[in-house]
Amino acid sequence: MAQLLDGKTLARRLNQGRVRPAAAELSRPPGLAVVLVGSDAASQVYVGKKTRVAERMGFHHRQITRPAETTQDELLAIVRSLNEDAAIDGILVQLPLPKHIDEQTVLDTIEPTKDVDGFHPVNSGLLSQGRARFVACTPKGCMVLLREAGVELSGKDAVVIGRSNIVGRPMAQLLEQANCTVTVCHSRTRGLEEKVRAADVLVVAIGRPRQVPGDWIKPGAVVVDVGINRLDDGTLCGDVDFETAVERAGWITPVPGGVGPMTIAMLMANTLESAQRRQRPPSRGT
Ligand code: GUN
Repeated sequence: MAQLLDGKTLARRLNQGRVRPAAAELSRPPGLAVVLVGSDAASQVYVGKKTRVAERMGFHHRQITRPAETTQDELLAIVRSLNEDAAIDGILVQLPLPKHIDEQTVLDTIEPTKDVDGFHPVNSGLLSQGRARFVACTPKGCMVLLREAGVELSGKDAVVIGRSNIVGRPMAQLLEQANCTVTVCHSRTRGLEEKVRAADVLVVAIGRPRQVPGDWIKPGAVVVDVGINRLDDGTLCGDVDFETAVERAGWITPVPGGVGPMTIAMLMANTLESAQRRQRPPSRGT
């Protein structure tokens, strides 16, 4: 029976024990702006959670909600005004955006020093070179969860399923930087089962319920399930079949209560870090 990677408890500890006290020490509270365009139900839930936690952290927070018909130019104008806003340290544009808006153009417009999601090409580029500034919240949260559990990564064979800019790609880079040997799998991968069976560390970010059966899991493996899927009966489940995987894994994240709360905790940590940098004169020589 696997041990649980309890993201809910760890996120609460980081939020209350580190972020909130550090935020209170600043001369002005960290400022987070969350922009939501359209009425995607899951996005509304995530954005609501992000602003609620920001509130609890004592952050200045602003939620900017616009209808699905918002034009790209209107959204770019919102982003530019947040870039200039001295009370805002972090800008997050919730994805996905409506189809008529080019996501990359919007993300490219966010001021990199306020890009607490880590999606701007400057930040993803710095991460890929091993000198990260802002790291995307979900992969960063997975790494912190593994580190806090004391999971040894060096030399391990890691498999990441999913190659998105939001999760899979940065996750693979972080695992490689932690000295794992990383295989990235995706929809065109051949022999997925065989690759999963060989994984000491498995990170799954597909976005489809129970795609990875428990009997694929290598006994004792570390399983990080990024998926949050809502079933017809309203319950949530991950991309891995938890009930069977928990019997074989050494460590496993529950869904909900695993990666999800860590994503939000890392958003708070990145926003705090941005505020600290902004309120402190830049150090010389670095
Ligand atoms: N949509 C799903 N995950 C994320 C995330 O981490 N950040 C943003 N902005 N949108 C998302």
